[in-house]
Order: sequence, then structure tokens, then C-alpha cells
Amino acid sequence: MKTHFMILAAGQGTRMRSETSKVMHKIANRTLIEHVICAARATKNFQDAANLHVVLSPKGESIQKHLEKHFDHLTFSTQQKQLGTGHAVAGAFKEMQHQISDEDLVLVLYGDTPLLQAHNLDLVLEHLRQNPSIAMTVVGMTPPDPKAYGRILQEDHGDVKSIVEFKHADEDTKRICYCNSGIMGFRATTLARYLTHLKQHSESGEYYLTDIAGLCAENNQRVSTIEIPYEDVEGVNDRKDLAACEAIFQDRMREKMMLQGVTLQDPKSVYFSADTHIEQDVLIEPHVVFGPDVYLESGATVKAFSHLEGARVCKEAVVGPYVRLRPGTHLEAKVKVGNFVEVKNTHLKEGAKASHLTYLGDAIIGRDANIGAGTITCNYDGFQKHQTIVEDGAFIGSNTCLVAPVHIGKSALIAAGSTITKAVSDGALALSRTLQKELEYKSPFVLKQNVKKHSQKVS
Ligand code: UD1
Ligand code: CA
Repeated sequence: MKTHFMILAAGQGTRMRSETSKVMHKIANRTLIEHVICAARATKNFQDAANLHVVLSPKGESIQKHLEKHFDHLTFSTQQKQLGTGHAVAGAFKEMQHQISDEDLVLVLYGDTPLLQAHNLDLVLEHLRQNPSIAMTVVGMTPPDPKAYGRILQEDHGDVKSIVEFKHADEDTKRICYCNSGIMGFRATTLARYLTHLKQHSESGEYYLTDIAGLCAENNQRVSTIEIPYEDVEGVNDRKDLAACEAIFQDRMREKMMLQGVTLQDPKSVYFSADTHIEQDVLIEPHVVFGPDVYLESGATVKAFSHLEGARVCKEAVVGPYVRLRPGTHLEAKVKVGNFVEVKNTHLKEGAKASHLTYLGDAIIGRDANIGAGTITCNYDGFQKHQTIVEDGAFIGSNTCLVAPVHIGKSALIAAGSTITKAVSDGALALSRTLQKELEYKSPFVLKQNVKKHSQKVS
């Protein structure tokens, strides 16, 4: 018995008011549709016995490209005209028919429900596997405001009689609070039997997948329903929903991190990406934002007001406060990167320090090297990026410009205020700044105060 996940994403999503298609908007830096696919892929036995199929509109090319970059083994079909959920599934079912056997299950999901979790889907699949007399299962929910959702009409014993779309509901039906989440599990035989019998509704011009529930019931086939929390199936229709889903997802991430042994001093002020990975015994101070692709090893500390993206931070490294780590950052164990430091595509080896006001781009910084305040790697000449290499134990004095490509030898010392354009040998002291000189002049300030001129030298 195989499971076929069918993800519908051909709708227009006009209420987002966006040039970007709805399912490409992001929650925690992951597109809505990726969240749905991740939930499906995390279900039990997915690797051995499942297919994933996505239905797109003719404008869905960019969505397909995006998904192919992130996942293997997806199949796609195009719904030429958006004639409703029933029409979308009918088209996909036809294209997938050669892969589908009678005993298989088809789980229909919507691409705009980013809060979905694998255990929700396992519940539906397990229920269908264990109850062969059931032709289909509708996943229901009780939203705080049932809005325009389809209402689930039930028999006294709980089975579903039909689903009535809001626009066709009378006042009594609108009072029903139990709504269709959109997720429906079918036996393949149920779809094969009824998809071709769906009627086009004249008011909307659409074929409703939900009508299959009524058709089954009329033909004395059982339609069951499983309720799952609204929070797990809430869909995104506009930017307000997007923000609401982001908030719920962030709370989940915060809770997950804390349960895994991460200290969050002020959880509400920390924002994660869906793929943020943090080992136990990491301390995160308030107001920290994680962009995509960050991995923190145990014992690391991220101090307040830091922004991390594409970075690996190893054991006991300290980042922040006010640090920006950009893609390609690798901080080895015990590295310290302090306030107002930006790091991009740079590897700092064990024990290296850059504690204040520094930009390190396209650089390799050796073990225990010390990067003084205000050091800048001048990595870009307007055309190309160049590399800076600072070897182990080197000491870069404050306010140094390292004009790349440049190489600073082991334990070399760069005097403060230097602009370094040539390689510096191991152990050498390099400086490149005009020598300080002193000229005599009559200071009006000194005269006014009637203070004797002093000639104390300032070093
Ligand atoms: C649908 C359900 C409704 C349920 C609600 C939950 C139907 C008829 N109604 O209504 O009972 O309460 O979802 O959110 O199914 N899509 C296509 N092709 C189309 C039309 C839609 O792929 O031609 C996709 C959309 O991209 C979306 C999903 O199907 O992912 C749902 O479509 P939408 O128009 O949002 O359905 P609702 O009217 O919200
Ligand atoms: Ca919808």
C-alpha cells in the first residue's frame, strides 16, 4: 500500500496582493509549500512507500524550480485553468494513474498551510489503514472564527453527510462551527469512482473536491472525520494570516529549542529559521535573529542584538553583542567576535578574536590571532573579491586596512593605523603610516589662558 501526497498550489492567492505567488511567501525563511512538503516527508514510512505530487498553475514554473532545488523525487502537473479543487485533483489523478494502485491512499494537502505537522498526517493515514470500510476521511477543525470555511455536516453517529461550502450554506449551516481544514484522505478507489462525477457549480464555475464526501454518503460509503487543532491547519490567505502563522511557528521553535537544552533569556525576542540547529547548553541572549542555515555547537553564547545567517559557530565561541555573521562564516572553538563586528565568508580558527568594530570578509584568520578594533579587510576592488589570510598568532593593530589579496605571516605584528598592501613575513613588525612630527605654533587658546607654552612631547 503506497501513499500519494497531492499538494494543491495552483490557486491565485490574490488576497496576498503580491507579485510573488502565495506559496512562495515564507514562514521562518522557508516557503509555505516547503513547510507542507517537509511535513509530508516526515511521515512514517515516507521513504519506502510514498509519492509527492504538486499541482501548479501555468505560472508555477518558478515554484517548480524552487522545489526541485530543495527536494528529490517530486512530480508536478499543471492545472491549465483554476476550475476548483475537484478539477485540480482530477487532473493530477489522471497524470499519476500509472503509479497508483487500487489499495493505495491519496492524501490531498494545500500548499498554503505551513503549520502542518507530520503527526497530523500520520493520524489520518493510520486511521484509513485500520478502517478498510472507510472510503474517505475529512480533517476537520474548530477555528475561533469559522469565517468562510466549508462546514462539515455529520450524522448523529459522527460520520460525514456532506461538506457545504460557505457560499452555498444557509443560515443554519453557517452556525456549524466544525469546518473543513482542506486536508482529505482518500482510498484511490474512491477518487477513481467519483472524480469524474463532480459537477461544476454554476455560481462559482468550480468543481469542488469536497462534493465527493456527499457522493460517498449518498452511495452508502462511509466518510469519517478526524479533528486536528486549528493551529496545525490554519491556512494563509493574506499578509495578516502570514504574520499569525509566523508567530505560531516561532513559538514552536522557541519551545523546541528550550526543550532541547538551549537557554533563551527572553524567548519572545529571539527569531529562528525553520532550519536553525542549536546543540544543548547554548545561551542566547535577548533580541537575536537567525537567518537561514545556522548551526551552533554546545557551549556557544550569542549575546544580545546579533544577526546570524549561514554560519557555523563551534564549541564555546562567543558572538556579540551586536554582531552580524553572514553566509560562509565559520567560527571555531573559543573564537570571540565582539560588538559591531561583521563577518562574511570567513573562517576564524580556534581562539582567534575580533572584539570590536571590524569587517572580516573573504578571510582566513589563524589560531589565536588578534584582530584589533576597527580592522577592515578591503576585499572588494569594485570588480572582484579577494582573500585575506592572517596566520596563527598574528596581531593586527587597531584601525588597520588589509588590502586583499594579502597574506600576514605567523605571529606578525601590524602597527595600529596601517594600510597593508603587501605580504608580511612571519614574525615581522609591519607599519605603513606617515611618521608623526611636531611643528611649533602659537595656540590662541593657550595665550588667552595665559598659560606657559609647554613642549611636552606626545608619543
Ligand atoms: C477550500 C475548501 C473548503 C475549506 C477550505 C480550507 C473546496 C471546494 N473548499 O476552500 O471546504 O474549508 O479550503 O482552507 O475545496 N487550488 C488549486 N486549483 C484550483 C483551486 C484551488 O490548486 O482550481 C488550490 C489552492 O492553491 C489552495 C487550495 O487548492 O492551495 C484551496 O483552494 P482555495 O481556493 O483556497 O479554497 P477555499 O475556497 O479556501
Ligand atoms: Ca483558502
